[in-house]
Amino acid sequence: MKYAKIFCLTLLLIFSAVLSGCGSGATQETKTVAVCFPNTTSSWQRNGDSLKKLLEDEGFTVDVQFSATVEEQQQQVKSVITKNPNCIVIGAIDSEAFVDVLQDAQKKNIPVIAFDRILLNTDAVSYYASFDNGAIGDGMGEYIEAALNLKNGGGPYNIELFAGGPSDKNAHIFFANTMKILEPYFRNGQLVCRSGQNTFEQVAVADWNSANARPRIQELLNRYYTSETLNVVLSPNDDIAGVILDEIEKAGKSYPVISGLDGDPAAFQRIKEGKQTFTIAKDPDVLTAKCVRMIKAVVEGTQPDINDVTNYDNGVKIVPAYLCTPMIIDQTNVNSLAAK
Ligand code: BGC
Repeated sequence: MKYAKIFCLTLLLIFSAVLSGCGSGATQETKTVAVCFPNTTSSWQRNGDSLKKLLEDEGFTVDVQFSATVEEQQQQVKSVITKNPNCIVIGAIDSEAFVDVLQDAQKKNIPVIAFDRILLNTDAVSYYASFDNGAIGDGMGEYIEAALNLKNGGGPYNIELFAGGPSDKNAHIFFANTMKILEPYFRNGQLVCRSGQNTFEQVAVADWNSANARPRIQELLNRYYTSETLNVVLSPNDDIAGVILDEIEKAGKSYPVISGLDGDPAAFQRIKEGKQTFTIAKDPDVLTAKCVRMIKAVVEGTQPDINDVTNYDNGVKIVPAYLCTPMIIDQTNVNSLAAK
C-alpha cells in the first residue's frame, strides 16, 4: 500500500512536470528578430555580432543578414518580411530605399526599428535607435576648433574635407553640424581649403566606401600639397581616416590633425601611434543594449524608452528615437579604454 502511494505520487509528479513543460512550450513561443545591416564597414559587423548575442541571451531567435548593395538589401528585407518575424531591425544602406519594400511589413503589423541610420519617407518605421548624430558633427567641429586654437586666432591652417555617403542621412547631419562650427574660420581666413572643394556634394565619399576616398586624397596631395602643408583633414569615419593617412604616409607628408568616427580598433592603434588625432567612439554594446530594450518593448506591445521626439522628421512622421551618447577618444584617454 505504502509503495502504491509512492508510485502514484511519482506518476503524478511526472505527469505534472510533462504538463508544465508543454505549457511553457506553448506560452513562451520563441520570438524572432530579423536584422538587416550593410557590410560596408567593420563597425556594422561589430554591431551585428553584439545585437545577435544580446538578443539570443534574451531568448530571441535572431536572423542577421548583411548586404553590400541597396538592391541586395531590398531583396533581403523583402524575403525577411515573408517569414513573419516579430520585429525587423534595419541599418539602411540607402535611407530612402525602403518606402515600397516596407509597405508589406506594415500590412502585416511587423514593427520596424531603424538602427543607427534613419529610414526616410516611410511611416512603416516605428522607432529609431542611434547615437546623437548632431552631437557627433558638433564634436568633430569643436575638437578641430580647440586643437587648432581657432577661438584665439590660431592659423591660418590648410584643411581638406571629406564626408560620408550621400544616400545616408547621417553623413549630411555630421557634415552640416561640423561645418556650422568651422564656417566662421573659413570666412576670416584662419582655415584655408586650397582645393576649394567645400560642399557636401564635392567631398562626399560614395557609399562610405573608403576605397572611393583614395583617388581623391591622392589627387589633393598631388595638386595642392606638394610644397604646402596639409594641416587638417576632416574625415567622416575611421575607415576613411585609415585610407587618407595611408596616402599621406606614402606621400612622405607629416600627419595632419585628423578626425574619425566609430572607435574602430585600427583607429585606437593609430591614435596610440600618434597618426590619427581622435575618433568619436560609438560603443556597439551601448547602442545594441538600447536597441534590444526597444525590440523587447515593441514585441511585447509596450512603450520603449525614448529620449528624442523632435529631431528625426523622416519626411512622413517624426520618428521617436533613443539617441546614445558617443565618446571622444584621443591620446589623453586611449590607453585607459578597450577598443570594441
Ligand atoms: C554611421 C557611421 C559609419 C558609417 C559607415 C554611418 O551611418 O553613423 O558610424 O561609420 O555609416 O558605415
